[in-house]
Amino acid sequence: DKAGHKHFMSKEIAEQPTVIGEAVRHYLAQDGTSIELPDTDLDFTKIERLTMVACGTAFYACLTAKYWFEQLAGIPVEVDIASEFRYREPPITKGTVALFVSQSGETADTLAALRYCEGKADKILSVVNVAESSIARESDVAFPILAGTEIGVASTKAFTCQLTVLLMLALKAANDRGALDADAIADALSKLRGLPSVLNTAMEAEQGLADASRKLAEARDILFLGRGLMYPLALEGALKLKEISYIHAEAYASGELKHGPIALIDKHVPVVVMAPKDGLFDKSISNMQEVMARGGKVLLITDKEGAVEASEGAWETVVLPQVDPILAPILYALPAQLLAYHTAIAKGTDVDQPRNLAKSVTVE
Ligand code: M6R
Repeated sequence: DKAGHKHFMSKEIAEQPTVIGEAVRHYLAQDGTSIELPDTDLDFTKIERLTMVACGTAFYACLTAKYWFEQLAGIPVEVDIASEFRYREPPITKGTVALFVSQSGETADTLAALRYCEGKADKILSVVNVAESSIARESDVAFPILAGTEIGVASTKAFTCQLTVLLMLALKAANDRGALDADAIADALSKLRGLPSVLNTAMEAEQGLADASRKLAEARDILFLGRGLMYPLALEGALKLKEISYIHAEAYASGELKHGPIALIDKHVPVVVMAPKDGLFDKSISNMQEVMARGGKVLLITDKEGAVEASEGAWETVVLPQVDPILAPILYALPAQLLAYHTAIAKGTDVDQPRNLAKSVTVE
């Protein structure tokens, strides 16, 4: 049932404020100001290294969470693609906790990577949507993301719910390890509780994104740029676009531009720059200006402050609500998804069942 939407993907994009709200509530303690995890003997103070493994969009959720676990909780994190991890057979050192992220919980490579860690890692954790899946069953602790059934092949609400749960785990780890005090946690949680309404407001940007998408639909190649927490979001935006619009899209960390991809820039290659007004904003904008100086057409996705400072000369600017930089990945997933969706609509491709792709990749 598409609940009045033309596609499951648009229904699932629209559901995000609700399901994210549910995920936040699930991990909130009764007092509403602290985090409560399922009954487990998991001890964040003992973790020396966190190894996160996944495929596709779930891998980008891990890349995002790396920033959170490192910056908030001070835990060294390594992130890997499951198909690489499983055959490289990396040494798993004492104090390592392995965390697998999967919507379906049945992805063959992720499951094989998990099995490789059995008996080697101190603990095996998973962040899954399907609670009765193989990955959930074979983990010591499975954290549900509560996104509800996701039907569109392009993952949307599962990604933002993965991010929500991973952020809450990082906050809990930060608190247990003494890196953030109770007040800081309560503050972060109150912002997380407010996120559904921020996302609803952000939906107002949909028309602007749809207009920009009609222009993107004419391109053969599109670049996505981001720094810090926006780098994995750029990767996600490019993947989403490739999957459902069949336009070649690449993402780079903005700082890598000079090391090669800037050679691609001309007036035929639109560049999507994701840059909230955070600590890295000036750096991202200076990279964006390098693109514009070479005739590149920039679609800037930012907030009000960012738009005032930097939208001059941009081809299009999309303005999102201002949020705490820590929460920005969850918010900026929305324009990444909507751009892909509307570009696919403009191209007339099959949004929910893109060619050659399966929802769950149970063979390698
Ligand atoms: O079920 P999983 O989360 O393990 O699936 C991983 C990837 O196959 C999946 O995220 C894929 O990249 C999506 N089609 C992305 O939209």
